[in-house]
Amino acid sequence: MILIVWAHPYPQHSRANRALLEAVRVLPDVEVRSLYDLYPDFDIDIEAEQEALSRASLVVWMHPMYWYSVPGMLKHWFDVVLARGWAYPDRHGGGGTALHGKSCLWVTTTGGTEEAFTAEGRHGHSFETFVTPIEQTARFCGMQWLPPMSLHGAHLVDDAAIALVRDDLVARLKSWSQNGKQSHAE
Ligand SMILES: Cc1cc2nc3c(=O)[nH]c(=O)nc-3n(C[C@H](O)[C@H](O)[C@H](O)COP(=O)(O)O)c2cc1C
Repeated sequence: MILIVWAHPYPQHSRANRALLEAVRVLPDVEVRSLYDLYPDFDIDIEAEQEALSRASLVVWMHPMYWYSVPGMLKHWFDVVLARGWAYPDRHGGGGTALHGKSCLWVTTTGGTEEAFTAEGRHGHSFETFVTPIEQTARFCGMQWLPPMSLHGAHLVDDAAIALVRDDLVARLKSWSQNGKQSHAE
């Protein structure tokens, strides 16, 4: 199963993320957890989240970039769901293997354009600079980090540019699901 953990605080105002979500949520083997819909009061059901993660072979974190990172709800989700003794070992080195062997795909959209994510640009650093904390979060939990996907200049790009990323994402998830099924059948 592919689990999409979706964090957009204002889905009704979303253009880019919504286009991506609508295309992938109908795919076979895909389950979507829309965190802001599920937990309007930020009271995350940790057990339900961990149970969904346990069933997934691929975990997708999908959201708009907020302050060079994830929206507050997804950060809170990291804090409480990726718990010590479950997602990483406890004080005595026990447990913490629940996510081992799973893969993680980060899909994010940014207001900043590709030019803005340069030393001379508005954001002062390459986009890759901001990947590191997310990547290390996944790796710390023993997940395999897949090449991330990003859509820059989300307000400025035309529909065709969004469609390109959307189609790429759909192709990657379909291929994952087919390969997963093949290896399961072997
Ligand atoms: C609170 C807030 C923080 C944001 N921080 C960033 C940022 O750090 N870098 C960036 O490029 N865009 C930033 N943006 C722009 C969003 O990433 C952009 O609006 C979003 O990716 C558009 O996707 P959507 O159409 O799905 O909403 C921010 C927007 C908001 C509201």
